[in-house]
Amino acid sequence: MVTTDPTYPLYYSAARLSGAGVHAVPVYEEDDFLPDWNKIPDNVLSKTGMLIMNYPNNPTGAMATEDFFADTLAFAKAHRFPIVHDFAYGAFGFDGKRPLSFLQTPGAKEYGVEIYTMSKTYNMAGWRFGFLVGNASIIQAFKRFHDNAHSDVFGARSKTRRQRHCLGRKIVSKN
Ligand SMILES: Cc1ncc(COP(=O)(O)O)c(C=O)c1O
Repeated sequence: MVTTDPTYPLYYSAARLSGAGVHAVPVYEEDDFLPDWNKIPDNVLSKTGMLIMNYPNNPTGAMATEDFFADTLAFAKAHRFPIVHDFAYGAFGFDGKRPLSFLQTPGAKEYGVEIYTMSKTYNMAGWRFGFLVGNASIIQAFKRFHDNAHSDVFGARSKTRRQRHCLGRKIVSKN
């Protein structure tokens, strides 16, 4: 898996869980914290299965430009690997700039998906609630993984269980 250095640290844990190695391209202030993917060595590129990035960026605060997204897409196309753009901070622009969605890049849906989380935009941190948009086959692969790796108790049921638990405690303390 290819990403930037620094990046959102959970990408490293996710790669480790799936047995993938990580190659991180360093970013520098003088380049507006945007990576030069051409620095990735050929022996890494031949094994790369995915590129993940997030703009507006955690932790640098960098914003992507149209040219950067277009170059990233061309690079991924040339080396035939998918792009995952984590758009967690898509609702937060500053200095008069509006964050760009990677999917605005012409042709992005051929190679990429974009992830959104409700945590930041809707103040729903901890709800583990988000969605994925873009290339249908990547979404299919993600759904297959998600169905098997993640499950949750239906919300209304867990609420009922909590109420029953409290009621049970009241009855016990009365007797
Ligand atoms: C870049 C980035 N992606 C994803 C997330 C995860 O958001 P959540 O797990 O709350 O949906 C965060 C949270 O800090 C983040 O900074």
